[in-house]
Amino acid sequence: TGFLSSPRSPSSSLIAESIKQPFVIGVSGGTASGKTTVCDMIIQQLHDHRVVLVNQDSFYRGLSAEESERVHEYNFDHPDAFDTEQMLECIEKLKKGNSVHLPIYDFKNHRRCSESFRQVNASDVIILEGILVFHDQRVRDLMNMKIFVDTDADVRLARRIRRDTVERGRDVNSVLEQYAKFVKPAFDDFVLPSKKYADVIIPRGGDNHVAIDLIVQHIHTKLGQHDLCKIYPNIYVIQSTFQV
Ligand code: CTP
Repeated sequence: TGFLSSPRSPSSSLIAESIKQPFVIGVSGGTASGKTTVCDMIIQQLHDHRVVLVNQDSFYRGLSAEESERVHEYNFDHPDAFDTEQMLECIEKLKKGNSVHLPIYDFKNHRRCSESFRQVNASDVIILEGILVFHDQRVRDLMNMKIFVDTDADVRLARRIRRDTVERGRDVNSVLEQYAKFVKPAFDDFVLPSKKYADVIIPRGGDNHVAIDLIVQHIHTKLGQHDLCKIYPNIYVIQSTFQV
C-alpha cells in the first residue's frame, strides 16, 4: 500500500503527471533470443489495455547503392546501423500521447519501403523491442521497465539459420559468415554489455511462462496505479512507492 500526500506538494504533482504517461517497456537480447515471442505473450496477457509494439528494426537505415553492392561487408549489428535519433523522436512522441508513422523495413532488400509506413496510435503501454534498445542512454531513460531475454548462443544461432533462410531470403553459408564476422562480435561488444541495465533478465525467452506471468502481474499493478491517478487526479502518491 502506498502513502498518500497532499495535493499541494509540487514534487508529487510532477510524479502524478509522469504516471499518467504511457508505460514504456524495453525488451532487449541477442539475435533470435525470442524477444518477439516474449513481447507477443505480454501483449496477449494485457488484452484489456491498449498496447503497441515498436521494433528497433523499423529504424534500420536503408543502404546506399554502393553499400548494397557490398552488403556482405555491412555490419547490421553495430549501433550506427540504426537511426537512433528518429527512434528517440518516435518514442518521445508516443510517450506524450501522440500518434506516429513508423518506417517499414524490408530485410530481403535491406531497404525501407518508401511508399508505406505503419501508423501507431496513442496507447497505455509501449513496448520497444530490439537487439540494441538499451544502448543509448536517452532511449533507456524513456523506459519504465527493461527486460533482457537471455537465451543460449547455440539456440539463438540455430533459430537464426532457420529464420534467415526461410523468412529473409538468405543461404546458410552467408548466415554463418555474417554471424562469425559481425553478429557474434557485436553481441559481445554492444548487446551483452547492455544487459547490466535490465531490471529483469528472462532465461530461455518465450519458454519461461513463470517469468512472463510475473512481469505481466507487475505491469498490471503499475497500470492500476496509472488508472487510479486518472480517476482521482487530486490524490498524488509519493514517488518511492512507485519505482520499478
Ligand atoms: N539483419 C540482417 N539484415 C538486415 C538487417 C538486419 O541480417 N538487412 C540482422 C542483424 O544482423 C541483427 C538482426 O537482423 O542481428 C536483428 O534482428 P533480430 O533481433 O534477430 O530479430 P527479432 O525477430 O527481433 O529477434 P527475436 O527472435 O529475438 O524476436
